[in-house]
Amino acid sequence: MKIDILTLFPDMFRGVFEESIIKRAIDEKKVEINLINFRDYTKDPHNKVDDTPYGGGAGMVLMCQPIFDCVRDIKTEDSKVIMLTPGGVPYRQEKAYQLSHEKHLIIICGHYEGFDERIKSICDEEISIGDYVLTGGEIPAMVLVDSITRLLPGVIREDSFIEDSFSQNLLDYPTYTKPREYEGMEVPEVLISGDHKKIEEYRLQESIRLTKENRPDLLDK
Ligand code: ADE
Repeated sequence: MKIDILTLFPDMFRGVFEESIIKRAIDEKKVEINLINFRDYTKDPHNKVDDTPYGGGAGMVLMCQPIFDCVRDIKTEDSKVIMLTPGGVPYRQEKAYQLSHEKHLIIICGHYEGFDERIKSICDEEISIGDYVLTGGEIPAMVLVDSITRLLPGVIREDSFIEDSFSQNLLDYPTYTKPREYEGMEVPEVLISGDHKKIEEYRLQESIRLTKENRPDLLDK
């Protein structure tokens, strides 16, 4: 998969993509990630990419021209263009699965007050990572890239994500490792029993219990 990220702040991504699983996925060519500064596409003599909003109001709005020209330059018939905005459709694990099957993602990060509305006309999807407002789309883009890359074939063991939280509208069951007792807290007996059927039942019950406690909205789905 190829992912092109359109951003005014490419340096924000470096540490995140140069560590751990994402780095390995890039090194092993499971994913290609390009950071494109759309300021390079502006035709403004002062390199401007934003301007004041029509009708007045606070802040600056990203202009059409640099983003239109940049997207047109890199888009192919295999591309899916995503705009990151707090007003987008809430991002969920199911969307990460869907996007992990695409060949080419173009992710546009906003900054300042937002985008000129007409930029939506060249986007296939608008996505929000949650009901809060960040300073820009860079952190949401990292969230998308991380959640999608781990689902690509060969990046992590497939059995690690079959039981992920949310995969069946249930949260993941609790896990334990050595030692068996820590500061008076014991590992549940059933996990040491070796009885795989019982362990499976226990884990399902615990997933349901945790989902009821923390995310009852998921059980309605
Ligand atoms: N840009 C600023 N806040 C955002 C959010 N919550 N999701 C996506 N893009 C954003």
